[in-house]
Amino acid sequence: MNANSKIALVTGATRGIGLQTVRQLAEAGVHTLLAGRSRERAVEAALALQAEGLPVEAIALDVVDEAGIAAAAEQVTARHGRLDILVNNAGILLDDVAVPVSEQTLATWRATFETNLFGLIAVTQAFLPLLRLAPAGRIVNVSSMLGSLALHLDPASPIYDMKLPAYDVSKTAVNAWTVHLAHELRETPIRVNTVHPGYVKTDMNAGEGELDIADGARTSVALALAGDDAPNGSFRYFDEVLPW
Ligand SMILES: NC(=O)c1ccc[n+]([C@@H]2O[C@H](COP(=O)([O-])OP(=O)(O)OC[C@H]3O[C@@H](n4cnc5c(N)ncnc54)[C@H](OP(=O)(O)O)[C@@H]3O)[C@@H](O)[C@H]2O)c1
Repeated sequence: MNANSKIALVTGATRGIGLQTVRQLAEAGVHTLLAGRSRERAVEAALALQAEGLPVEAIALDVVDEAGIAAAAEQVTARHGRLDILVNNAGILLDDVAVPVSEQTLATWRATFETNLFGLIAVTQAFLPLLRLAPAGRIVNVSSMLGSLALHLDPASPIYDMKLPAYDVSKTAVNAWTVHLAHELRETPIRVNTVHPGYVKTDMNAGEGELDIADGARTSVALALAGDDAPNGSFRYFDEVLPW
């Protein structure tokens, strides 16, 4: 590994947008840790990218396992001593589309928040000390336009009739967390932003999205690699700033 390379970690990277984010960061020369909740799948995915000559390393990281998160942070500390980029990509969608908003089960709400919000915060807390040791840390939180209250309230918006409450509200909370963390870090070189990747053809929507997965990774990668002019506390889709 080139001693000057940036180091990135992408959660939920064994498939979908996360795997493409790893590929694009590695193609840009970033030494990228491909984090997966299954160590075997993470190793398998990392080996495939390594075989193409890309600087990718597997790491086991289940975002709902606090001890596992601490172990992963210790591993990165011991091996690399810092982290330049954290992409909080892992996410789940459990809402039953056949069930009205008012009747989604509390089990669905709790499990969704455990992964999409509390897991994201736990990973950020564990890796923030390492991001502070990088010259210009970047945190990218993968949210969704389904987290936008302004768009949910607008009858003209494409998501007006897409109400998946546990998922949507978890992403609204991710956006609010991003704003709060960005405020805390505003005087540091760290920049934290939240993104909508697009409506992307992945397992999450059974391949019914509009964007190819490669394009779905582009907003995360752009903010992960953004330089001194990087925004802080913004919600973006490509170059567009989305309403909260
Ligand atoms: N696809 C879209 O149109 C779309 C739109 C807006 C936002 N997003 C967001 O984009 C992100 C990636 O979604 P995707 O479409 O790529 O979904 P996906 O294909 O379903 O992949 C989700 C990834 O998250 C991982 N994951 C789930 N729970 C985890 C946990 N506890 N710990 C670690 N990893 C975990 C999965 O790992 P396993 O392989 O082990 O299950 C998988 O790698 C999500 O945050 C999603 O909400 C997607």
